Amino acid sequence: MKVSTSFLSSNYSLVDTINYLEHSSTDFIHVDFMDNTFVPYKSCSLKELEVLQNTKKDLDVHLMVNDPLKYLAFFSKLNTRYITFPYEAVNNHLEIIDKIKKANIKVGIALNPETSVNCLIPFLDLIDLVLIMSVEPGRGGQTFIPTTPAKIAELRNLSNRVLISVDGGINKDTIKLVATDIVVSGSYICCSDNFEERIKSLRDS
Ligand code: DX5
Ligand code: ZN
Repeated sequence: MKVSTSFLSSNYSLVDTINYLEHSSTDFIHVDFMDNTFVPYKSCSLKELEVLQNTKKDLDVHLMVNDPLKYLAFFSKLNTRYITFPYEAVNNHLEIIDKIKKANIKVGIALNPETSVNCLIPFLDLIDLVLIMSVEPGRGGQTFIPTTPAKIAELRNLSNRVLISVDGGINKDTIKLVATDIVVSGSYICCSDNFEERIKSLRDS
């Protein structure tokens, strides 16, 4: 199980947080980007995210926006491994999948807690990753939704190939409930005074 650390909620400045993550064993840095369209919040601006230009960690970019392609050029210039966009936000899934792949970036689709995994059936052979939201998208520090494990099992039955990641409310207790390839965890890691200890506690569970 790989750990992808979200820095949306952190006790430290953006620069310090990225620096701590750079020197940690996190497998990915999870970049939550919101522009007040898909969710009523804004994250750091693209300008602020330029701090990621020097990172050697692979970026796991989670776009919570209505127009994912608008940001493709920006994230293509960074060390981006995955770009994940919200299933519910768009109608042109195939076009988005195609354009992200053409930028040599792996592509994921995120599913809101109330959306059925069956919606993904037409896309499962075309994408690399599904991000199961275990909280409502938009904010860090929320409580894990208990119906998530059953949803993950349902998705695994639909595809053995696609990578499954889970995002929201992951800590040392809730991680025991999920069997995924990747876990995203934010406040549990970045609102602590020992990132590495928290990352290890997730990986070793
Ligand atoms: C929520 C974001 C998550 C969030 C996770 O909309 O997509 O990545 O930052 O934070 P925690 O782990 O605090 O729920
Ligand atoms: Zn996220």
